[in-house]
Amino acid sequence: MARGPRLEATYEAPPNIALVKYWGVRDRERALPYNSSISVTLDRLRSRTTVRFDPDLSDDEVELNGTVATGGPRDGVVRFLDRVRDLARVTHRAEVRSRNNFPTASGLASSASGFAALAGASTAALGLHLSGRELSRLARFGSGSASRSVFGGFVEWRAGTRPDGRDCYTRPLYGPDHWPTLVDLVLIVKGAPVKEVRSEDAMKATVATSPAYRRRLAELPGRTRKIRAAIGARDSRRLFPLVMEECDSFREVCETTQPSLDYLTTTSRALLGEVRTINREAGRPVAAYTHDAGAHMHIFTLRRDAAKLRRRFSRLPGVERTLLLRPGPGGHRVE
Ligand code: DP6
Repeated sequence: MARGPRLEATYEAPPNIALVKYWGVRDRERALPYNSSISVTLDRLRSRTTVRFDPDLSDDEVELNGTVATGGPRDGVVRFLDRVRDLARVTHRAEVRSRNNFPTASGLASSASGFAALAGASTAALGLHLSGRELSRLARFGSGSASRSVFGGFVEWRAGTRPDGRDCYTRPLYGPDHWPTLVDLVLIVKGAPVKEVRSEDAMKATVATSPAYRRRLAELPGRTRKIRAAIGARDSRRLFPLVMEECDSFREVCETTQPSLDYLTTTSRALLGEVRTINREAGRPVAAYTHDAGAHMHIFTLRRDAAKLRRRFSRLPGVERTLLLRPGPGGHRVE
């Protein structure tokens, strides 16, 4: 029997950390957010995903980090594959193998890197040649933040205002080499709780119940503009206070959600205080903290201050590990 083409591809994608947080969905069907977000794509960390479509398979087989996926994580992948199958007009089931080169439980945005890699691998396997913008549009149906992991460097996901979502898209603002002295010191804290509520559901609760959410949305266009400009000017003195202001706003709407969303541990909170102290002592913004829907901290600083800060943070009780990351390249196909 004649063999068809080999419908297999491998793709790698990095995680990203948001400087302006995506938090709130205005249209679930079209995966449209309420607000634009900006992130930095991180180097060294990767999800590597291989997808092989096979007419002989009777069901999708999903393996994440060496373990057969079941329940929610599997359903998310299958739903995403259905979308790709629709796009390519095929019905073949697929075998998906995905592996992170960092611990998934570390909470380092594995859904962003994971879905960006799945989008890249599954479309390449079916011979769909998508542009970066098309790939990011697709990736956001897996996870909103995944749309940003398609690109390297400093990336903006524009919310747009049109109900049909045609002006909602993701674009690179500046490449990975734009600001070579900016570093992200990641502090992995001990005893970080496993996420109980998925971000998708958590955001929905925030939009519905947080009295601070409207104010946040009203403040965001101005803050986002300033953050974009400070990145463009490579101006840490302007950027760092804005990054913390944005992180505090995100935390405020989480904490005022009913029931309250509290992602931090005692150590994470102590780290927020430590960064404020460091900046006060120096009389200038030496560092900026930010965090996602998790307990680990990302501390932005400049290369010249990184080693000293790293020593200072490593000594604190409850800090399990530190990673020094930089802005890095986006997702790419692995031959
Ligand atoms: C706090 O993109 O993980 O990290 O679309 O439900 O998968 P889903 O959410 P996700 O949410 C990201 C939330 C955030 C902020 C951000 O990365 O912008």
